[in-house]
Amino acid sequence: MAHNPLAPEWLSSPADANTLADGLWPSSAHRSDAGAITIGGVSAPELAAEFGTPLYVIDETDARTRAAELRAAFDTEFARIGTTVKVYYAAKAFLSTEVARWMVDAGLNIDVCSGGELAVALAAGVEPGRIGFHGNNKSHAEIDDATRLGVGTIIIDSPVEINRVAAAAARHGVVQNVRLRVNSGVHAHTHEFLATSHEDQKFGVVFEDAPALVAAIRAEPSLNFLGLHCHIGSQIFGVDGFAESASRLLSLHAELLTDGPVPELNLGGGFGIAYTSTDDPSPIADLAAGLADIVAAECARRGIAVPVIAIEPGRVVIGPAGVTLYEVGTTKPVRIGENTRLYVSIDGGMSDNARPALYGAEFSVRLADRVSDAEPALVRIAGKHCESGDIVVDADYLPGDVAPGDLVMVPATGAYCWSLASNYNYLGRPAVVAVVDGKARVIVRGETIDDLLARDAGLARSTHKVTTRSTNGTGATSSTNQMKETTR
Ligand SMILES: Cc1ncc(COP(=O)(O)O)c(C=O)c1O
Repeated sequence: MAHNPLAPEWLSSPADANTLADGLWPSSAHRSDAGAITIGGVSAPELAAEFGTPLYVIDETDARTRAAELRAAFDTEFARIGTTVKVYYAAKAFLSTEVARWMVDAGLNIDVCSGGELAVALAAGVEPGRIGFHGNNKSHAEIDDATRLGVGTIIIDSPVEINRVAAAAARHGVVQNVRLRVNSGVHAHTHEFLATSHEDQKFGVVFEDAPALVAAIRAEPSLNFLGLHCHIGSQIFGVDGFAESASRLLSLHAELLTDGPVPELNLGGGFGIAYTSTDDPSPIADLAAGLADIVAAECARRGIAVPVIAIEPGRVVIGPAGVTLYEVGTTKPVRIGENTRLYVSIDGGMSDNARPALYGAEFSVRLADRVSDAEPALVRIAGKHCESGDIVVDADYLPGDVAPGDLVMVPATGAYCWSLASNYNYLGRPAVVAVVDGKARVIVRGETIDDLLARDAGLARSTHKVTTRSTNGTGATSSTNQMKETTR
């Protein structure tokens, strides 16, 4: 098929628009004999029939395996250089009590960045000592709770927090472990990184200010300084940005060692994943090996002991394990000059996947209920919101006979989709189901219209008789989903 000039340069027209590209899908994803995409042994039509659409689906085995393999890779590589690694799962990527338990089962700790995330982790039974607490503006109440509840480490993000955390710890009679987040001047996004002398952003303290701030931390009897922290960005494919940042951090780390112990160094998260077939992130084992080599070399160069290393990956653990299932409502060929783009509108959109609108993120899509040998057509997957930027997949190819009623699936939506979901246009946030061994179970139920109305204080004062429905307004199957869900 000829290349459609409306397609972005990186997207070539596929020989077969039904293929599930390597590296994009949960490990169990395949097409059944009938042609439907099947994940964890459950087919897309079965999922849609039982739970409705839109629906987030997580391959539980894939998520657990990713967490365990990441842990093992870092353990092995850092043991090779004579140290240990603490792996924190960055809960902001996706958090529910079940997922928190999967991570703990795989030997990971949990990184939270709000009182809400902390509450979910604690409700999951995560031992408080295994939790790290982030945030550039933690409230007094959040700091108070974290110190009172025994949160393992608090990451201090600004000078004023030193006193706040110290006072809270003193109030509760504890010595609180803290890290200091610094701005290493390295900013990375996907393939490229930028190394500047100063970073103009809200997170962390200015690099040059760190020694004085660490001295202030060390002067507080209720604080125990564990080490520096840095997070250089997200969706990073190679090791170079981490190398530059680790080098800068270890020079500071060495300087701090002259005045006291610095047992740990936290290098943050940000390991990238594939969202389209052209994305080629480094395998985790290579990243672990590369990072270990850099840390070993930089410590040797400075004549310092290798510290305990901490990392905080989120996306790479849960992102590829998740997909979103939608039903097609309308299709519309739009002619632009000589060429045509097929707009395919689905029953969700920017409320369940804000990443394209927020970051211009790319995603891919496949027909999920069947295969087709129709000529591939360039499609744009549009949501149902009143917003022209409401696009879930900017460009991909689907069989040209994609039609209303078809199911489509978007891979790699496990991270930063559910957690960024909104109720824009009063759409209920979809349910999340975990699939494993041919069984699907709800791990977060979808929202109903009743949920959406529940917080409207004007309702109680209304003289109108209000009729509510149990659907989220996205279609009959969704209502089945939501109603079933409440009885599960
Ligand atoms: C401080 C910190 N740690 C870890 C992460 C996780 O990043 P990722 O999910 O890209 O691994 C983030 C993401 O924003 C972050 O801000």
